Amino acid sequence: MASFDSADTVMQRIASLGRISDDQNWLTRTYGSSAMTRANEQVALWMKEAGMATRHDAIGNLIGHYPAAGADAKILLLGSHLDTVRNAGKFDGPLGVLVAIAAVQHFNNRNVRFPFAIEVIGFADEEGTRFQSAYLGSKSIAGRFKNGDLERTDAAGITLSDAISTFGGDPGKLDSARMDPARLLGYFEVHIEQGPVLEKNDLSVGVVTAIAGQTRARLTFQGVAGHAGTVPMALRHDALCATAEFILGAEAEARSVDGLVATVGQITTLPGASNVIPAEVALSLDVRHAEDSKRAGACSNLRSLAKQIAERRGVTVNWELIQESLSVTCDSGFVAKLQKIVARHQAKSISLASGAGHDAVPLSKITRVGMLFVRCKGGISHHPDESATVEDVRVAIAVLTDFIEQVTN
Ligand code: HGY
Ligand code: MN
Ligand code: MN
Repeated sequence: MASFDSADTVMQRIASLGRISDDQNWLTRTYGSSAMTRANEQVALWMKEAGMATRHDAIGNLIGHYPAAGADAKILLLGSHLDTVRNAGKFDGPLGVLVAIAAVQHFNNRNVRFPFAIEVIGFADEEGTRFQSAYLGSKSIAGRFKNGDLERTDAAGITLSDAISTFGGDPGKLDSARMDPARLLGYFEVHIEQGPVLEKNDLSVGVVTAIAGQTRARLTFQGVAGHAGTVPMALRHDALCATAEFILGAEAEARSVDGLVATVGQITTLPGASNVIPAEVALSLDVRHAEDSKRAGACSNLRSLAKQIAERRGVTVNWELIQESLSVTCDSGFVAKLQKIVARHQAKSISLASGAGHDAVPLSKITRVGMLFVRCKGGISHHPDESATVEDVRVAIAVLTDFIEQVTN
């Protein structure tokens, strides 16, 4: 069982990482930014303190290696992401990396080595905040990075390829980041729940059984600009009104299917002047459901809705699929093992499905995955009020250290 001070240390480190930001007003740390470089440097120091050798792979994932007792050993992957959304909370991502480092520190302090190596990964980009395509770090390790993504540009017009080079990576050698599935024991991630279930059950941690699939699309409604004062309402082709109708339609669609969520988080209008009828509106669309067929059905309904609105309003609409990830089932052996371990550290063990995506999604393509959720206050996440308690973090570290000791049993 890890000592209490390791949980205190994790909380202190969460706070100090929370101050490493691209933005001085709030926490935002996006792929390849100077804040990401500073965060990687700081976390690499903590990895070294815990007895790990550190490296960066070709896309900039930070990897700490804790050697095995013997040669030719398999590798147990732990970790989570170090990038954040805009105006983020401090726990989403870093908690999983820091709890993993605390667990390795626990064993290193006792000179304990296993018949497998442990690698703790700080993924370089899970959220997709800067380039709109999530999981760039874990997709590279899973050998699923799409080279077409290299031409994606951020808001300043910088390509992902250039951002990788600036970050110290090598866009021409992303294949080298791929890990050999035959060498992997599995991947295990600790993450805040980002939902209310553990708090409702008054439990510190919960076992994740599945991760919902998600569709991320970008729609562009194209209308006709005009003078706000002279074009009669009946003669307008207002791209923003078409968009507004679509957004409410997406909300209605999501409300009509149990477990379906649809979100428009980003919107830009052109020309963006108060006295000009909007000519072009681009918006993001995020659709999720635990069952892939329900998500696909909703997306097809939303595509038809967008087309109907466009025809009726005399505008055009373009639907660009940005990325799609199928729902993932966690390894049943890991789930069963975790249930037993968790039940020894708290009153009962419950299972949860994750509505949020995680780096375990791409990694599930090459190895067994397991996840442990940690209670977070009010289920709040992707928000500066995101928080977890030191007592719950201590339970998470204890569960993780037990899991590592039993993973090959
Ligand atoms: O959007 C998500 O589900 C995760 O936070 N990347
Ligand atoms: Mn996350
Ligand atoms: Mn997140």
